[in-house]
Amino acid sequence: MAGVRSTRAAILAALFAAFGCAAPHPRPRPSAQAHPSDGAYELSFFNVSDPHIIVPTEKNGWRLTRDSVPILKDTLARISAEKPDLVLLSGDIAEGKFEGMSNLALAVQTLSAEDRPWYVVPGNHDNRYAGSDATLDGYAKDEFIRAFKGHGPDGTVGYWRHDVPRKKVTILGLDTSHEGTSEGWIDDSQKAWLKRTLDEIDPSRYVILVMHHPLVIFDENALRDDRLSRVWLARNADEIRMILEKHRNVKAAISGHMHARGHRLVNGIHYVATPSINTWPCEFTRFSLTRDRLAYEQVDITDAGKIDEAKRGLLEPESDLMKIVADTSTLVGLMSSGPVREDLPLGR
Ligand SMILES: [Fe+2]
Repeated sequence: MAGVRSTRAAILAALFAAFGCAAPHPRPRPSAQAHPSDGAYELSFFNVSDPHIIVPTEKNGWRLTRDSVPILKDTLARISAEKPDLVLLSGDIAEGKFEGMSNLALAVQTLSAEDRPWYVVPGNHDNRYAGSDATLDGYAKDEFIRAFKGHGPDGTVGYWRHDVPRKKVTILGLDTSHEGTSEGWIDDSQKAWLKRTLDEIDPSRYVILVMHHPLVIFDENALRDDRLSRVWLARNADEIRMILEKHRNVKAAISGHMHARGHRLVNGIHYVATPSINTWPCEFTRFSLTRDRLAYEQVDITDAGKIDEAKRGLLEPESDLMKIVADTSTLVGLMSSGPVREDLPLGR
C-alpha cells in the first residue's frame, strides 16, 4: 500500500512540477430583496491561468508550446469583446526557463493588446529555473515585477491591492512564488502586508484574492501524501487561511498552478482553482459577482482541434506524464473532474 501511495505521489508531484502547468456570463440568481447599494458589488471578470508564454522553438506536447501566443491572443480578444470589468492572470504567465527575457518580452507584448484592465501575479514558472531547465540569461522575478508594473505589481514586489473604481470590491494579488522551486508560500514581509491591508480595508468592501499556489487541497489523493501536498498547497496555507478568516468580507480566493478545475468552501471562503489555457482541458474562467453570489464558468479556448491535440499530448504513451502515470483514467480524472460551472452563495 505504501508503494502504491508513493507511486501515486510521484505521479502527481511530477504532474504538478511539470505544470508548475462561449457562452454568456453566468447570471447569479437575483437577491430576494434588492438593496440600493447592490450595484456596487456587481463585478464581471475573467481569470486566465498558466498561459506559459514561450518563444515557440519547441513542438507541442502536453503543453501547446508552439501555440502559447495565439491561444492567449485569441482568449484575450474574446474576453475584450465581452467588456468585463477586469481580467486576472493567476501566474505562470511566461517561462523563466532557458531564455527568460525573450519569453517575458513576448508575454508583455501579447498582454499589451488587452484593452480591459488586467492584473497579474507571478507563478513558479515566472521565476529563475535551476537544473536541466536552467535560466540561461539574466532573467529573474524582479524582471517580471518591473515589466508588469501598473498591472498589479508596483515595480518592487509581486503582491498588490486593487480597489475596483466605483465598486465596493477590492482585489488582492498574492505572490506565492520563489526562485528555483515549484513549491509556494507567503513570506513574512508579505504576510505582514496582508494582515495590515486586510485591517485597513473598509469591512463593507468585498475582498477577492488571486494567487498562483492554492490555499487548500482540492484533490483528496493529495491529502493522503505529504510530498504531493507540499507541491499542490502553499506551504503556510493553514496560517494564511486563518488570517483571511478573521475578515468576514473576504469572499473568495482564486488560484492557478494545478492546471485543473476545483472548488471548496472552507469556513465561509470560496476557494476556486482555475485551469490552464495551454494544457488540456484548455479553459479560462468567467466570473460574475453580486452582493449575494459568486458565479463562475469554465470556457473552452476557441480551437477545438488544439484542445484535442493537448489531450492527445497529455495521454501519449511517450509523454513525460504518461510515462509516470501509465493510467489514462487517473490522468483524465485529475485534469477534468472539477466543476465546470457553479453559482455560489456568499453567506458569511
Ligand atoms: Fe503552470
